[in-house]
Amino acid sequence: MSVNLKTNFAGIDLNNPTILASGILGVSKSSLNKVIESGAGAVTIKSISLEVRKGHETPIITTFEAGMLNAVGYSNPGAKEAAQEFSNLNELGAPVIASIIGQKDDDFKQVWEHLAGCGFVAIEVPLSCPHTPGFGTMGGQHTPEMSENITKLLREISGLPIIVKVSPNNPNMIDVAKAAEAAGAAAICAVNTAGPGMQIDIESARPVLGFKIGGLSGPALKPIAIRCVYDLYEAVKIPIIGTGGITTAEDAIEMLMAGATALGIGTAVYYGGPEVFKKITEEMSEWLEKHDYKDIKEVIGLVHKH
Ligand SMILES: Cc1cc2nc3c(=O)[nH]c(=O)nc-3n(C[C@H](O)[C@H](O)[C@H](O)COP(=O)(O)O)c2cc1C
Repeated sequence: MSVNLKTNFAGIDLNNPTILASGILGVSKSSLNKVIESGAGAVTIKSISLEVRKGHETPIITTFEAGMLNAVGYSNPGAKEAAQEFSNLNELGAPVIASIIGQKDDDFKQVWEHLAGCGFVAIEVPLSCPHTPGFGTMGGQHTPEMSENITKLLREISGLPIIVKVSPNNPNMIDVAKAAEAAGAAAICAVNTAGPGMQIDIESARPVLGFKIGGLSGPALKPIAIRCVYDLYEAVKIPIIGTGGITTAEDAIEMLMAGATALGIGTAVYYGGPEVFKKITEEMSEWLEKHDYKDIKEVIGLVHKH
């Protein structure tokens, strides 16, 4: 007997529910290909802005016992160059999701105009980055109004499923997700990094990160992400990409039970390489088989039935 791991998410067929989260290895077509060959069900590119962005001063990443802080600051080559890098994405063996950022509505529109011919299957909009001035929570973008406007705008011009990525830091998370759903979003990605947090080098008595503060990800984020997905499952009908601290098959099952239809994985790739996708998928399958489940869909939202 084998367990069916196939799932359909926002109209997209996935061989398994794992998705590479935005910002990790999603910078080139070849790195996306490597992640797909390592077993990811789908991949998300690093967020792209209209103009090239240098990002924050180094160090941009620091780790601690329970996770990671990052202050990458959306470094990316800009939409024009990204469009060349990500051409003919349908050659790859799994769906590729775009991630678009901007400061004004028109930025989102123009970024999409560059990327439109690449072969993306959906567009994710992170209104939720906690450490980049002018963007996400630092740009005042995590609001129901912005969620509604950007969802409508990108839906109209792209005709693709729109995924709004929410922040765990703000009590308005449910309102942002509901506004996205009402405006026709196909899914919610929950969550972006938490915080921001700070780590201090006690020898130099200075913050470790160049930008001083950074978004928290990895195992420390998991219980918060699980709670967010649990709350969202009760509040919206559209599917949720559960993201935050998934490192093992057990974490993945926990996220599915909270209500996720698909699973975003980021920091674990940093620690374990792209092979984590195959490992988590195989071990998830073994766990499900051992517990007499025949289809992964049987565990989605299971905790809500008790
Ligand atoms: C180094 C790094 C860079 C990231 N860059 C982005 C990004 O460009 N866009 C985005 O939406 N999220 C970004 N994220 C957030 C992740 O996509 C994800 O939501 C978050 O890290 C929680 O998942 P994880 O614990 O599996 O990493 C980044 C995270 C990390 C660690």
